[in-house]
Amino acid sequence: MGIRFVDRRGWDCKKYDLIQKTYGEDVLPAWIADMDVATAPPIIDAFLKRVEHGAFGYTFRSEAFYDAIIGWYRKRYGFEVRREWIVDGPGVIPMMSMLVSALTDPGDKVIIQPPVYPPFFAIVKKNKRALLENRLVKLNGSFKMNLEELKSLIDKDTKLIILCNPHNPVGRVWTLEELKVLYDIALEHDLIIISDEIHGDIVYEPNEFNTMLKAGLKNVVVLNSPGKTFNMPALNISYGIIPDEEIRRKYMEIFEAIDLTTGSAFGILGLRIAYTEGEPWLEELLRVLKSNRDIAYEFLRENCPSIEILPPEGTFLMWLDCGKLNLEDPQAFFLERARVYLNNGKDFGDPNCVRLNFACSRDTLKEILLRIKGAYDSLVK
Ligand SMILES: Cc1ncc(COP(=O)(O)O)c(C=O)c1O
Repeated sequence: MGIRFVDRRGWDCKKYDLIQKTYGEDVLPAWIADMDVATAPPIIDAFLKRVEHGAFGYTFRSEAFYDAIIGWYRKRYGFEVRREWIVDGPGVIPMMSMLVSALTDPGDKVIIQPPVYPPFFAIVKKNKRALLENRLVKLNGSFKMNLEELKSLIDKDTKLIILCNPHNPVGRVWTLEELKVLYDIALEHDLIIISDEIHGDIVYEPNEFNTMLKAGLKNVVVLNSPGKTFNMPALNISYGIIPDEEIRRKYMEIFEAIDLTTGSAFGILGLRIAYTEGEPWLEELLRVLKSNRDIAYEFLRENCPSIEILPPEGTFLMWLDCGKLNLEDPQAFFLERARVYLNNGKDFGDPNCVRLNFACSRDTLKEILLRIKGAYDSLVK
């Protein structure tokens, strides 16, 4: 099918236009988690037909939409989802926020595992719940959950754990064994686990993605969307898988109260086509991303040895630990000296780090890497 890189500038593109307007045309953005590729050709063809039809009245999710989700979990993740478990949503993070609000009371404690995607902090705080940070630890060259600390954080007010599976920004693809241990701890203390599986399709061999549902069904909520996988996060479509009837009811109550039940015509169509016809394209995308990951990792390891990196097992994101460079603000440093805009690790809970997005063309990636090396050299030489 072919992976087609596109020039994204000029379409109110947050990744490029916003940053270049703010910091200058010469800045190369490698931040926010979307890709520089056009989505899968079958999705574009379906959209073209939909545009030609011309009427954009209210739409609904037909059974074919839900069948597509069930089919995707079956063929990609080897898990059988029941139709009644699936709930609709306008995006993974809005769903997560609704769930925090629906499943806990003000003052209740919610656990997250930094460094982690910044909205995890924000939605807990903005819903006025108490945030507990169970930081990941580096052990034998890999990020791990600190389960002893996790257990010590739990008390009668602790209600929820928000899991990033696979983990953004460190790129860990949690193993089934790791998920089962977490599940058992949650079960023992009657905690609900929200598993954000939006990066679940971007996983590199030999690693294998495991949905949290494989660890167990009780008190597990899965959130997902084709947004990352098929580069369509701006289509505002997502879904939840909630086997527990009572949790589902609580979610639906708030979802219906704010009347989010209609959806975007392109989001609904995009998900259905992605999950029914997009698999060959995804396989090709994974080859391209894996080779970008390897290029970025090898280059930085060789040329910027003081930056600590563990190659991501999944996601198109790389977590660069710049602690040894003794920079006050690594993101500002690379923006100023390399003219590369990276995510600031501070927003994820680690100010020594920056996050690099390598889902761009090979040429762009090489330019980004050379610029990073130039800035690095100016510092250590
Ligand atoms: C872990 C994670 N969850 C959720 C999102 C955003 O999901 P949505 O746009 O569907 O709210 C992102 C985007 O980067 C992400 O990395």
